[in-house]
Amino acid sequence: MKTRQIVLILLTITIAVCSCKEHKTRYVIGVSQCSDDVWRTKMNEELKIAAFAYSGVDLRIASAQDDADLQIKQIQQFADEKVDILIVAPEQAKVDAAIKKVHDAGIPVIVFDRRTQPDAYTAYIGADNKEMGRSMALYLSSQTKGQQRILEITGLSSSSPAIERGSGFNSEVEQHDKLKVVERLYCNWTEQRAYQMVDSMLSVPHPDFNCVFAHNDRMAMGARKAILKHRINTEDITFLGIDAIPSKGGGMQMVRDGELAASYIYPTRGDEVMKLAIDILEAHKYNKENLLSSALVSKDNANVLLMQNDEMKRQTDKLISLRQRVESTTNAFDTQRNYLLLLLLLVCMLIAVCALAIKAYITKAKYNRQLKISVDKQKQMTDDMQRMTQEQLRFFTNISHELRTPLTLISGPAEQLSESNGVKGADRTLVDMIKRNTGILTQMVNEILEFRKVQNEKAQLTPNRFCAAKEIRVWAADFSTVAERKGIKMQILTDGYDDDFIIADKEKLAHIYFNLMTNALKYTPHGGCITTSLTHRDGRLILSVTDTGKGMATDDQKHIFERFYQAADSVGGTGIGLALVKAYTDLHGGKASVESEPNRGSTFTIDIPDTQPGYDANKDKQNDVHVDSNLVDDYTAKNLRAERNTAKIMGIEDYDSDRPLLLLVDDNASMRSYLRSILQADFNIVEAQNGEEGLTVARQQVPQLVVSDVMMPVMDGLELCSRLKANVSTSHIPVLLLTARSLEEQRTEGYATGADSYIIKPFSADTLKARIHNLLRNRTMLRQLFSGNVGENDEEKSLGEHDRDFVSRLRKAINCHIPDSEYSVEDLGKEMLLSRVQLYRKVKALTGYSVVDLLRKARLAKARQMLEQTSMSISEIAYAVGFATPSYFAKRFKEEYGKSPGDIGRDK
Ligand code: FRU
Repeated sequence: MKTRQIVLILLTITIAVCSCKEHKTRYVIGVSQCSDDVWRTKMNEELKIAAFAYSGVDLRIASAQDDADLQIKQIQQFADEKVDILIVAPEQAKVDAAIKKVHDAGIPVIVFDRRTQPDAYTAYIGADNKEMGRSMALYLSSQTKGQQRILEITGLSSSSPAIERGSGFNSEVEQHDKLKVVERLYCNWTEQRAYQMVDSMLSVPHPDFNCVFAHNDRMAMGARKAILKHRINTEDITFLGIDAIPSKGGGMQMVRDGELAASYIYPTRGDEVMKLAIDILEAHKYNKENLLSSALVSKDNANVLLMQNDEMKRQTDKLISLRQRVESTTNAFDTQRNYLLLLLLLVCMLIAVCALAIKAYITKAKYNRQLKISVDKQKQMTDDMQRMTQEQLRFFTNISHELRTPLTLISGPAEQLSESNGVKGADRTLVDMIKRNTGILTQMVNEILEFRKVQNEKAQLTPNRFCAAKEIRVWAADFSTVAERKGIKMQILTDGYDDDFIIADKEKLAHIYFNLMTNALKYTPHGGCITTSLTHRDGRLILSVTDTGKGMATDDQKHIFERFYQAADSVGGTGIGLALVKAYTDLHGGKASVESEPNRGSTFTIDIPDTQPGYDANKDKQNDVHVDSNLVDDYTAKNLRAERNTAKIMGIEDYDSDRPLLLLVDDNASMRSYLRSILQADFNIVEAQNGEEGLTVARQQVPQLVVSDVMMPVMDGLELCSRLKANVSTSHIPVLLLTARSLEEQRTEGYATGADSYIIKPFSADTLKARIHNLLRNRTMLRQLFSGNVGENDEEKSLGEHDRDFVSRLRKAINCHIPDSEYSVEDLGKEMLLSRVQLYRKVKALTGYSVVDLLRKARLAKARQMLEQTSMSISEIAYAVGFATPSYFAKRFKEEYGKSPGDIGRDK
């Protein structure tokens, strides 16, 4: 089951539980009683019992205690509570407006017992009060003898039952001579008021009376009590009332007990009122006017009626108790149902939690499985990589071993040749180059083999006892020549431990020092300083080499001792040297570390114990260890010899102006020498050691072609190429890149910078020469630039963007100054923002002509056009195109076109 579904079920159950109670109430019925007396109490009881019969009825009863203002407030409150229906017995006419307001607001209104205006209620229910009054007069007339002098005690004069009862009674009294109302007291339906008024009346002279007709039983009782107070014999007085309430002390008992002669049942009928209300609420059929039937109660029927009433009361009580039991059972059922739903809710929640837990468990298990698979895969990959690395290393080792034989066979004969007096001049230079590079290769091969030995844990220490400070000074001396040549200061700080002896593998320590020094020399610029410090303390020898080079990034520091690691801007090398430093230090049980700050320099430190276990003085054969400065020289990449060569070329010693000028850019001095030896027969050559230098030389001398290595310090070949192509003075120069990188994408990278050709090392001399000649031959030559056409020709279109722009500016500048005989090459250079040399070389390379020739060609082409298209004289045209004399113009014209200007004119 999905989480969303579970949440939905839980929500439904929660809503069900919450809404249980609410379903019970369907209707709110407000009952506004005008007063609080036995009649009203009976009626309220009946209403409550009747409400049981209808489910969902919320009955709210308010009593105004005979106070009209209070009733108005209570009615308003019912309206505010938005009761569904209002049942009201208005105290008096004063309340009518409040009832009308409720009715007008759309709430149905039932008026009972007392009346109000007909348009202010939905329905009326009550007894026929007029008939009641009439019946009482009839009864009096029929049941008494002699003249009846009647004291009439009315209900509240502004209430409808009082008016109607009085009118019914009096109209009937008028029909009988023996009946006469001698006094009328206006009361308010209460016993107390009737008592007070009768008492007051009797206290003063008053008409004689033998009958009391009160509009209700309670007032009749009040009158009786007042009469008794005045010791008047009540036996002679007929008391009549209305209501005939059957309850204890009510009118019916009074009749039975003879206190009242008769009464008239004023029906309460709460059941009928409730039925009418429900009919209205449920839109059933109902009558607007509902008159309740009633009957007179006298001594004859009072007892029977009381008995009937008792029986009815018993039945009603039974019904009430049954109803209460039903209600409590229903409540218990409701509570149980709620508990059940709550339980269901909890069960569902539990299921949901379990489902989520199971889901989480399954997901976790799935992830674990996936994790395991990926860990296995990774392990597999690591194993594979390790295996491959091992295989590669084995392969490397084998190759390195194999290389040793041919290396020996090269270096041996090279050595012999070098010793021979017959090898001289350029040949000797070549032999020296072979010797030096064989040495470097041997060194590299040895390093690889040595490193492999360390890796296979076959390398062992051969401990010697020696004075470290003394040896370090000897080894350092081997580097002094190179350092001096490079303008680098060297210093050794031994901290006063000059005579301390240590036990370590001297050869390996020498190797460590050699590698640290080589590294330092490689990166320290001219004017820098390399400091070797030696500390011998607490059984440890700490050797550090500090340079003032460019330092390295934190990332590089972390990996610098890793095998084959080379920082992004490293210069040459195999990446084995520092790995070997660490390996040898480890062999000594020591620690190698580096501290570096970009642009400030680096300090490499080795910290080894000053003694080694198993040292045997008898086996201690020590050799002097020395460094071949030739190797150091080449390892450090910069070579002063190359600079001297450059100077030689710049000194134009073997400069031949017919040969194209070629710029060689390579950081390896030997490579430059080799390239020079291949190319110097065909080209004039200038050299540069890196891209930056190359760029300066190219801008100054504008060579016909640039041959450059790709991987170089300071500025690599790719950047050099793109910067050459972006500058107007050099954009036309073909660039040939040399690189060891052979991957297709790297080659594409080269072409993307605008390189014209790409040669992968190693290459043969012939291939290189052929490629260079080819590039020079295939240069776009714009020989027709001023053949008379004004627009771009096809050759021009094949030029690069910068050159096309240059040519178009050049054409515009020349065309503008054709008439100006004073316009010089310098003026044109200024306009084109190029130096005289730059302009000359660029124009020559692009067009094959000198700038002077080009200017003249443009003038002659314009003159020819004028000769053909205008009637101007030859002299006029000669001056117009900037020639000083017509005869010189004619001479040059004939040279250019093979015809004299006059011949052109005649053709026309
Ligand atoms: C009860 C009562 C009755 C009387 C009726 C008239 O409050 O006073 O005694 O018959 O109201 O509305």
